[in-house]
Amino acid sequence: MKRIIWGTAITAAAITIVAFRAIGANDPAAETAARVQRGHYLVASIGCEDCHTPKKMGRNGPEPDLSRMLSGHPEGTTLPPPPTASGPWAATATWDLTAWSGPWGVSYAMNITPDQNTGIGIWTEEMFLSALKTGRHMGVSRPILPPMPWQAFRNLTDEDLRAIYSYLRTVTPVHNRVPDPIFAPEATN
Ligand code: HEC
Repeated sequence: MKRIIWGTAITAAAITIVAFRAIGANDPAAETAARVQRGHYLVASIGCEDCHTPKKMGRNGPEPDLSRMLSGHPEGTTLPPPPTASGPWAATATWDLTAWSGPWGVSYAMNITPDQNTGIGIWTEEMFLSALKTGRHMGVSRPILPPMPWQAFRNLTDEDLRAIYSYLRTVTPVHNRVPDPIFAPEATN
């Protein structure tokens, strides 16, 4: 008799849990999908691709090369030394906006696809949030160089930063090793 009562109680509890999930209350899959969608919206509207996606030449000029979306400055690109800054002209960018030179040195847009070896595949959500909020590489080490606008992005809510991270985990991983930045002599702190 006791066994039957317990069995009934457990079954009832299980049915309640299933019912809750079915009506979407606290449904982790739906929550993740919503977060990824929000992240996609933020990345698309903030313009991360301007710098982080390599370009190809289209009929109307450079356009994002979606086969390499968000994979950063293409490895193996040979660049001449940047032009010398003159007067109020302080910074220069390559035609595809993935390499930049300025008073800080030379910086290359990072690979922010989830590739394990060359992208942010091994980054935890915590590292990502910390990098964008503190301006430290991987959240802990050297300063993140311009023109990466982390000073603006740190104003995003943690929820939005998490959404961006979640979306970035879903894009196609691209193997592309971006070169290390070159620090200007006076900017090595
Ligand atoms: C104006 C150009 C530009 C835009 C726009 C931009 N980035 Fe960047 N980003 C860079 C450059 C350049 C670097 C490399 C900086 C360095 O090496 O210190 C970088 C580096 C990063 C890094 C690595 C930080 C680290 O810890 O080293 C992440 C993550 C990142 N960007 C994410 C984003 C996201 C997400 C967006 C959009 C919300 C975005 N970026 C928009 C230029 C840009």
